[in-house]
Amino acid sequence: MSPIERPLVLLHLLLVLFLTLKVTSLPTTEVQALIKWKNSLSSPLNSWSLTTMKNLCNWTGIVCNTAGSVAEINLSDLGTNGTLDQLDFTALPGPIPGSLVSSLQKIEYLNLTANFFQGSLPINLSKLVALKDLRLGDNSFEGGIPNEIGLISSLHILELYDNPLGGEIPSSLGQLGMLQRLNLHTAGLNSTIPHELSYCTNLTFINLGLNSLNGSLPPSLSNLTKISELIISNNLLSGEISPYLITSWEQLIRFYLHDNSFTSKIPQEIGRLTKLQYLDLYNNQLSGSIPPQRLGTSKIC
Ligand SMILES: *[C@@H]1O[C@H](CO)[C@@H](O)[C@H](O)[C@H]1NC(C)=O
Ligand SMILES: *[C@@H]1O[C@H](CO)[C@@H](O)[C@H](O)[C@H]1NC(C)=O
Ligand SMILES: *[C@@H]1O[C@H](CO)[C@@H](O)[C@H](O)[C@H]1NC(C)=O
Ligand SMILES: *[C@@H]1O[C@H](CO)[C@@H](O)[C@H](O)[C@H]1NC(C)=O
Ligand SMILES: *[C@@H]1O[C@H](CO)[C@@H](O)[C@H](O)[C@H]1NC(C)=O
Ligand SMILES: *[C@@H]1O[C@H](CO)[C@@H](O)[C@H](O)[C@H]1NC(C)=O
Ligand SMILES: *[C@@H]1O[C@H](CO)[C@@H](O)[C@H](O)[C@H]1NC(C)=O
Ligand SMILES: *[C@@H]1O[C@H](CO)[C@@H](O)[C@H](O)[C@H]1NC(C)=O
Ligand SMILES: *[C@@H]1O[C@H](CO)[C@@H](O)[C@H](O)[C@H]1NC(C)=O
Repeated sequence: MSPIERPLVLLHLLLVLFLTLKVTSLPTTEVQALIKWKNSLSSPLNSWSLTTMKNLCNWTGIVCNTAGSVAEINLSDLGTNGTLDQLDFTALPGPIPGSLVSSLQKIEYLNLTANFFQGSLPINLSKLVALKDLRLGDNSFEGGIPNEIGLISSLHILELYDNPLGGEIPSSLGQLGMLQRLNLHTAGLNSTIPHELSYCTNLTFINLGLNSLNGSLPPSLSNLTKISELIISNNLLSGEISPYLITSWEQLIRFYLHDNSFTSKIPQEIGRLTKLQYLDLYNNQLSGSIPPQRLGTSKIC
């Protein structure tokens, strides 16, 4: 090598080093984030590849919004086994101008129902601030429900049922004012029902059945005036079914509280629930009778 060539080689090396550093320090793009996650899953998501990144909106289970950002991920019932650990929820818009690469944080809908997902629910899930609909039911998630779930303030639907999550119903759920549907049945939950749920006044559907929830029904739940289906059966709940709650729940169509330890008289106010069609009080320590108005119009157990 001549003395003139040597600095050139050095310069070249520095340039390569600089470019490499520059490339590796770029934020993860949406496409990179999805492919990294896919590579950690056992699922034949063949359409998810760098060579088809221009067709991101046509990938299996992906739906984009009109701006070309990923708005929905629906991998339900695909037999996918894996975790959420390798999904970078903070992926930033891509650096390629004019491409469809954009931010995962615009996802509004995530349905991974009925797969073999395991591991814990990542705290960074809460970075998906646009999420309206989160369905993770029928998987093997464990390790509890993170408090940070209360930060996903646009959530309308939250389904975590049929997972061995364990632990508490976090009181932070009270921050989800838009929530309409909350399905946490069969999730190994062993806390009380947090009174903060009363702030979620848009709730129409709650299923907390088949857990180990204890304590009584918080009186503040009288706030849930839109509730039409309330399923709290098969828990360790006790205390009374207060007439005050029943009179607030005028929209009730389905009310299952069987297999608990409720004590009290059956509130006669049940007779005033004109929409009630399904009522199951079986296997509690309730006394008294079902108001006659209800007999004949409802399916009562
Ligand atoms: C999307 O996929 C379908 C079938 O898988 C194909 O016919 C169509 O051409 C694809 N669209 C684009 C834009 O790649
Ligand atoms: C999600 O995928 C499931 C199973 O493939 C399908 O039944 C369902 O309609 C899909 N939902 C949406 C909103 O695409
Ligand atoms: C979510 O996935 C489940 C299981 O495949 C499916 O039954 C359900 O329709 C999906 N939800 C929506 C809104 O597509
Ligand atoms: C999913 O993967 C884990 C770890 O590789 C394995 O232990 C488990 O048996 C798998 N589950 C299914 C249903 O394939
Ligand atoms: C969570 O997101 C932050 C960026 O907001 C990132 O620094 C951190 O590594 C992420 N944690 C995990 C476990 O992915
Ligand atoms: C509640 O569930 C958590 C997590 O599964 C567990 O560690 C704890 O021991 C349980 N508490 C009771 C009283 O069962
Ligand atoms: C209930 O939903 C409406 C509209 O969807 C919204 O304006 C209102 O703020 C929500 N209630 C709460 C307590 O957040
Ligand atoms: C009932 O809901 C309203 C919002 O609609 C809220 O301001 C109030 O604090 C709630 N009360 C209780 C007891 O949770
Ligand atoms: C719920 O169960 C736990 C564990 O058995 C107990 O420590 C706690 O006092 C119970 N809470 C209520 C309100 O009964």
